[in-house]
Amino acid sequence: MNLYSALEKRAGKFLKTIIYPESDDPRVIKAVKTILRKKAAKVVLIQKEGATAIPLKADKNLIVIDQAFSLQFLQEYHSIKIRKNPDYKLSVSEKEIKDPLTFSCLLLKNNFADGIIAGSVYSTSDVLRNAISIIGSSKGNKTVSSFFLFNFPSSGRFRDRVFAYADCGVIPVPDALQLSDIAIQTSENFRLLTGKKPRVAFISFSTKGSAKDESLDKIFEAYKITKKRFPELICEAELQFDAAFVPEVAMRKNPGGIIKGDANVFIFPDLNSGNIAYKITERVGGANATGPVIQGLAKPVMDLSRGCSEKDIVNMTSVLKNLIK
Ligand SMILES: CC(C)(COP(=O)(O)OP(=O)(O)OC[C@H]1O[C@@H](n2cnc3c(N)ncnc32)[C@H](O)[C@@H]1OP(=O)(O)O)[C@@H](O)C(=O)NCCC(=O)NCCS
Repeated sequence: MNLYSALEKRAGKFLKTIIYPESDDPRVIKAVKTILRKKAAKVVLIQKEGATAIPLKADKNLIVIDQAFSLQFLQEYHSIKIRKNPDYKLSVSEKEIKDPLTFSCLLLKNNFADGIIAGSVYSTSDVLRNAISIIGSSKGNKTVSSFFLFNFPSSGRFRDRVFAYADCGVIPVPDALQLSDIAIQTSENFRLLTGKKPRVAFISFSTKGSAKDESLDKIFEAYKITKKRFPELICEAELQFDAAFVPEVAMRKNPGGIIKGDANVFIFPDLNSGNIAYKITERVGGANATGPVIQGLAKPVMDLSRGCSEKDIVNMTSVLKNLIK
């Protein structure tokens, strides 16, 4: 079964409520039409003041909320702002709260919805800053990060493989503890989304000491922290991508290793390597990439690439539905 059909099945029949703050983007409107037609979610859209009416027919699963409704959260939003800066002006909060993304985060925080999908117009930083400051990180966790999920066309040689890369979208230079958080979060979510047992490889330019450089210390440290926190997690460090992905190379470079060219969760040492790798996998490798799937927040807020298609938004909806706790 196709990955997204499987995700739809796994999400169950009970409809989740999802906010799409970018209702003036035609791709979002097209995606919402598909979602409503398939009865895949209850959809919340924000009607901006003075804008033309959202071009969608009435539907029992569509809720359109007027932007002016945001004012009911003014005190709550302002208290978040003055906690960081006691001189923050109420008039500034009043202006900011009308922003559909900010308003959506407050709606989510106050249980008017189960999740948010944004980023077709807003930048990743916009989405993350709002989500981190208003929703906050999940209980007992300090790290918000992201991963991409990949699958391949059914006619290709990788048709049976599904895997994840992290972090490709949030933390520019994670320290060892953050890298361990990224590995643990990604493996848990990979299991939730695919039903497969995660096999985690900490990727680098060296396989098990084949090269020496101080930049490798962080990767090995992250592996040690992860093993200590989750001894049962199948993971290994440090591995080059080919030793983690290709069984024949694994036999040569890492005989006796735990990962035998069959890793399905790849943890990159920093955002440069993770982001570059994901784009090459998508553009040269022909993979279907979904993400960045944001993880580590108290409630799910998903980011989209600004180059996303209507289909990417529909696919992200299937992913989000499986990550609602
Ligand atoms: C996430 C991001 C927006 C944070 O940037 P920032 O707001 O300048 O970060 P700051 O260091 O000023 O931190 C602000 C607050 O957010 C918190 N924070 C920042 N990044 C965080 C993370 N990854 N997880 C949890 N909290 C985080 C900080 O702890 C700080 O909290 P505090 O105010 O309570 O002390 C930034 O790292 C970013 O833009 N990342 C995305 C990179 C990108 O453009 N990716 C695109 C490629 S797809």
